[in-house]
Amino acid sequence: MKALIPAAGYGTRFLPASKTIPKEMLPVGAKPAIQLIVEEALAAGAEEVVIVTSPDKPSLRRHFDVDAVWHARCAKKPEVDAELTHLEEIGKRIRWTFQTEQKGLGHAVLQGADLLRGETDPVLVLLGDALVSGEAPSAAMAAISRAHGGASVVGLEEVPLEKVSRYGIVAGDFVDERVLKLTDLVEKPQPDVAPSRLAIAGRYLLDPAVFDLLATQTPGHGGEIQLTDSIRRLLAEKSVYGYRYPGRRHDIGNPAGYLETLLAFSSSAAR
Ligand code: G1P
Repeated sequence: MKALIPAAGYGTRFLPASKTIPKEMLPVGAKPAIQLIVEEALAAGAEEVVIVTSPDKPSLRRHFDVDAVWHARCAKKPEVDAELTHLEEIGKRIRWTFQTEQKGLGHAVLQGADLLRGETDPVLVLLGDALVSGEAPSAAMAAISRAHGGASVVGLEEVPLEKVSRYGIVAGDFVDERVLKLTDLVEKPQPDVAPSRLAIAGRYLLDPAVFDLLATQTPGHGGEIQLTDSIRRLLAEKSVYGYRYPGRRHDIGNPAGYLETLLAFSSSAAR
């Protein structure tokens, strides 16, 4: 399995901090958010991770670089040096590409398509500003996909009706307590037309056919190329499942969401 992390957004909701610190580099304990997300992908069985970022955010890539100067500084701190070595090992499994224009999430995901060409297995997509506390959903989604012949799976959370217009919302029929077979997806519907309160929540496992659909996707909500719209078209050809995962999603892209993330991770990330 391969993974893709879109992490190219400017993070304007987190200004002025995000002027020089990309939101994905905000620390949760001693690790930046992007490292936790890459580790979630690897733990779920991804062999390689494609990160789509912006040329204006070079610190993401530098974080995973081999750095002899830091090893020298940590010569007398073997446990910290081991963390750096671990990071470099992770770095060897990452490939980088750029989104140079902000044309929406679907457009960002499409920028990774060249590096995933020829892929036949579903690709794990993890949003770079979404952390999940509690059980990580990616591994469970991979298992659900396998159980349904390699079908696509989107991670879901239930949101209050007044918030449905902030999310991609799905319709479907439950096949067990947490899994449903989708019948529709709508990006950011108004509450009166939302097909449910089940929102797409930062994690996807997508049939690579979605890349061809993204390449021909017309702009949708907000005039942007929406990933949700291409998954909706995928649904016309192939089964797509939803997984209402038990963990909690946190949006690190705004100050309140970030503080909530720190509280949720305070016991596991402290050292
Ligand atoms: C994106 C997706 C949306 C999803 C949300 C949270 O929206 O377009 O479908 O529900 O992430 O995962 P954004 O938060 O980028 O506006």
